[in-house]
Amino acid sequence: MLTKKMVDCLNEQINKEIYSAYLYLGMGSYAASIGLNGVANWFTIQVQEELSHAQKMYNYVIQQGGKSVLKAIDEPPQEFSSALDLFEKTLAHEQKVTGLINALVAVANEENDNATKIFLQWFVTEQIEEEDNASNLVQRLKLVGKDGNGLLLVDQELAQRIFTPPVV
Ligand code: FEO
Repeated sequence: MLTKKMVDCLNEQINKEIYSAYLYLGMGSYAASIGLNGVANWFTIQVQEELSHAQKMYNYVIQQGGKSVLKAIDEPPQEFSSALDLFEKTLAHEQKVTGLINALVAVANEENDNATKIFLQWFVTEQIEEEDNASNLVQRLKLVGKDGNGLLLVDQELAQRIFTPPVV
């Protein structure tokens, strides 16, 4: 059983996870438009990751007797300047999401909601990986700089990314 405040906050985060998917969908479209199909693939997989995060939270709300109230998804930014720009914005976004997850944990603490605290630990751990992935790509693309061959090598590597669904 969740308190109303907890349900409201979890529903807000479901919206944010779907917004993340929308943001990355647009980033993938930009990458494809400049010929970086591997980068586009990375973002396509990221879209699936974000939708699975939303689904995991949605399932939890329902399992705990709550109702998922779905709200409008904001329009994401769609102007980008390079692969590095994409991953710098991805890293900044993931850092923001980490803050949102931490705020959710704080609400679960206030509400004395141990089940939700335990449930949210998966997201806390996931955010470490999300930030690390984006940070690593930012570092590597900075090393590549204006070297087109280096960029194409990174692009080829990102073409290999596949989606592994989490348990939801
Ligand atoms: Fe749902 Fe990228 O964190």
